[in-house]
Amino acid sequence: MIGIFDSGVGGMTVARAVEQALPDYRLTYFGDLARTPYGSKSPETIANYARQNTEFLIGKGAKLIIIACNTAASIASEILRNEFNVPIFEVITPAVAKAVATTRSGRIGVIGTRATINSNVYDEKIRHLAPDATVFSQSCPLLAPLVEEGWLNKQETKMILRRYLSPLKKQQVDTLVLGCTHYPLLTNLIQPRIGKRTRVIDSSHEVAADLKAFLAENPEFTAQLSLQGENTYYVSDVTEAALATASQIFGRTIDLIKVTI
Ligand code: DGL
Repeated sequence: MIGIFDSGVGGMTVARAVEQALPDYRLTYFGDLARTPYGSKSPETIANYARQNTEFLIGKGAKLIIIACNTAASIASEILRNEFNVPIFEVITPAVAKAVATTRSGRIGVIGTRATINSNVYDEKIRHLAPDATVFSQSCPLLAPLVEEGWLNKQETKMILRRYLSPLKKQQVDTLVLGCTHYPLLTNLIQPRIGKRTRVIDSSHEVAADLKAFLAENPEFTAQLSLQGENTYYVSDVTEAALATASQIFGRTIDLIKVTI
């Protein structure tokens, strides 16, 4: 089974893309709602949460992990690769590849949580692929909590977005990376505020495409993945807002199963 985790509901945007790309394979999701948001926690705490989430999913039978959280990926991808003997996919590398392939001017904006932006990982990975690119980063610590609250179309959310996006708009970025898996839920508010000529990058479909290619290239590994049963969505706390956002992401009612990890 494919294991996917995030600090909350945001990573379900990735789970949905994986479901669409690989409908025959079973997946298990874990959303750490009891401890969200991760973006304002220290790197040590984020790494520990990422470890615990991975252990939980492997305990449930995951043969492969997708870190559907930029914050956890920016801090803990290498740690998890060193500590666990399963393939680890994450959302940052595909987002960077897509941004570099998309930009024409080389002026790339990145928005993410404070921990992701402070880690500098986007900047480093973009410049590695495109040494001439200029990266403009903006941490947006209020956005993931607004999404977890389900404030997807409120005036307050629009105002906060305008505030976060205006420095990037002034820099005339032609590409904007949504460096947090919660942000695709705000795309309809982000696009008009950054400007319609700026391409907004959400890596969920790229992650799913990378995974599909990996499975096709590794048939012996793929044979271990289960095709039977239901996809399961675990959370460390259940809230009304999470249930509503989960249903909105999937377009159907999602049972969130509460677990203590
Ligand atoms: N969805 C996560 C991310 O991609 C984390 C948001 C948070 O918990 O702060 O960064």
